[in-house]
This record gives sequence, structure tokens and C-alpha cells, in this order.
Amino acid sequence: MIPSYKRSPRSIPFVSRPHWSRCLIAICATLCITGAQATPSDPERGRYLVEALMACDNCHTPRTSDGYVHAKRFSGGTQLFSDKDYSVRGSNISPDLETGVGAWSDAELGAAIISGVNPKGRLAPVMPSESYRALTPSDLDAVVAFLRSIPAVKSTLPPQERHGALEPRRATPGAERPFSEKDLADPIKRGLYVASLSRCMSCHSSDVDGAPDPVGHLGQGGRIFRTPAGVAVASNITSHPTKGVGAWSVDQLKRAITQGTDRDGRPLAPTMANLSKAHFSRMTEEDLDALIAWLRTVPPE
Ligand code: HEC
Ligand code: HEC
Repeated sequence: MIPSYKRSPRSIPFVSRPHWSRCLIAICATLCITGAQATPSDPERGRYLVEALMACDNCHTPRTSDGYVHAKRFSGGTQLFSDKDYSVRGSNISPDLETGVGAWSDAELGAAIISGVNPKGRLAPVMPSESYRALTPSDLDAVVAFLRSIPAVKSTLPPQERHGALEPRRATPGAERPFSEKDLADPIKRGLYVASLSRCMSCHSSDVDGAPDPVGHLGQGGRIFRTPAGVAVASNITSHPTKGVGAWSVDQLKRAITQGTDRDGRPLAPTMANLSKAHFSRMTEEDLDALIAWLRTVPPE
């Protein structure tokens, strides 16, 4: 069931659950025998999280002006992210054994996703693990199961360059730790979960010292995005009635998030619009309602 893997010499207590995995295998075996439906890790749930919220493709799948190159899904991103501390592309995270992450253990994959480290050390903070740290343990398992289920693509990227301290970025307040299933039953907490996994506040909080500051400037906008399609400035999405989106109706907000339009229905710049069309348009009504309920709680600034 779990593909063979090499064990990491480093122990990562946060996600290393060998004992758990043995339990899960035992539970699965029992359920398979009794014919029950439940599965410990659900790749379809993982697909939903990746495709509707977490948008791994955005950095890890090659792109042309027509959008993602689906035949090379997760074989490495087109965009180069450079800073004084790094010059990196989204890595090959397809299950190819040599050029992708096919030989990684579940714990290693989990650590890259929620702690921003690979077996050799810290990743550049462009890999938004601070947004994914909120994943419930079963949702993290589901994401890993989904990654393992897609076709392997052989593709070697140019070497990644990293120097300096590679400071991790700050999480959205309240989303610094894994959520529980009980948290997800509370609409406001569920909304924060959706916002964190969808990175809303990593883009929409203002930059301080070159990194988004969701703690002091939550949702206040101003980050600049330079892409081949042009320059875009992230909007203020606090509940402020004039500077933010406090006076927008629920329908205007839903349309902005799922179709990438401004309050009047005109298309937003690609940084937001592409995410909306390729990913956020797939959000369930329940998640979208929860997201908007939480957005309304972001203090007006
Ligand atoms: C905003 C861009 C971005 C998004 C979104 C993103 N990543 Fe990454 N990811 C990166 C970059 C850039 C790297 C390479 C960092 C480095 O090498 O220092 C990386 C590295 C990784 C690695 C380590 C691979 C290696 O060989 O070291 C894994 C695993 C990974 N990402 C998985 C994911 C998954 C799964 C998702 C979605 C749930 C995701 N990433 C979303 C940018 C992103
Ligand atoms: C990769 C960065 C990025 C992510 C992630 C992102 N946005 Fe945006 N968003 C932007 C940018 C940039 C704009 C401004 C586009 C423009 O000016 O045309 C924008 C515009 C918006 C607008 C329109 C506001 C206005 O005044 O017109 C809303 C609403 C919005 N985003 C909400 C969200 C929500 C909610 C999420 C999470 C589900 C999210 N965004 C995720 C970058 C992002």
C-alpha cells in the first residue's frame, strides 16, 4: 500500500509517526476485511485540498500563456523566485523515483509541506509551509496520498540556490498549529483553515522587511507581484468599509474569489484571477461560506 521508501536519517518529531502508520495499516487491513468504506488516507480529499485550496500547481507545474501543462503536472514550476537569500523554482514533486519525490517517506513529504524542510535542510520560504501547517493530521495524510497517486514525470531542474538564514514566514494568527476535526465543525475556524491553506493572507498582508506580515498587517494589502503578465498590487481585504471589502455583499465576495473579478465584476489581474479560475472556483459552498464568514472578522484597517 505504501510504496517502498528510504528512511530519513533525521528524525522530524513533528510529523514522524511510524507507530501511527503501523496502527493505520492494521486498521485499514481490518476495514478491508470487514468491507467498511472508511480509508485512513483519502486521495480524493487530498485532490480537493490541492486543487481547490492549496494550489501546489501554481508553483510546481510548468505553465505557458494557455495555463498549466497538465501532461507535466508537478514536474517543476516555470517561475523563478529570486531574493538575496535564494533563487529557486517549485521542485519536481511528482512521484518519479529519481527526479521527483517518489523515494521520499511519508514523513519526509509531510515535513516539506508543513515544516518547510527537505531531507537536506531548510527550503526557501517561497514554499509556503506556514500556510499549510494548519492541516489536520488526516488532511496531511490525504495530500500525501494524492501526491503519490499522480503520474511520475522525469524532469531535472537546474540546481536550487539558497544562502543565508531562510527565515520561515509567519502564519495567519490562529493557524500556527494543526487544526482538529472539531475545529472544522466551527464555521469561523473552518473559514480560517480555508484562508490559511489558500494563502489569502500571505498575499494580502502588507510586507514588512521583505516578508508578508499577517500578524501586524493582516489583510491590509500592498504587496507587489511582478509576473510575465504584468504588475499587480494585492488589495486590502480587511472588513474596512471603504479601504477593504467590508461593504461588499456576500455574492460580490464569492464572485471575486471564484471568478477573479472586482466589486463590479471586471476581471482582476492574473495573480488573483488565475488562482480563482484554476483553483478557488472548485471550493465547496461550505468552505466558501466559512471563508467569507471568517473574512468578515478580519479587523478593519
Ligand atoms: C508559492 C509557491 C509554492 C506553492 C504554492 C507550493 N510550493 Fe512547494 N515549493 C516551492 C518552492 C519554490 C520549492 C523549492 C524550495 C527550495 O528548494 O528551497 C518548493 C519545495 C517543495 C518540496 C520539496 C521538494 C524538494 O525536492 O526539496 C515539496 C515536497 C513541496 N514543495 C510540496 C508542495 C506541495 C505538496 C504543495 C501544495 C500543497 C506546494 N509545495 C505548494 C514553492 C511552492
Ligand atoms: C498569489 C497571491 C494571492 C493569493 C494567494 C490570493 N490573492 Fe486575492 N488578490 C491578489 C492580488 C494581487 C489582487 C489584486 C488584483 C488586481 O488589482 O487586479 C487580489 C485581489 C483580491 C480581491 C479583490 C479586491 C478588490 O478590492 O478588488 C479579493 C476580494 C481577494 N483578492 C480575495 C482573496 C481571497 C479571499 C484569497 C484566498 C482564498 C485570495 N485573495 C488569495 C493576490 C492574491
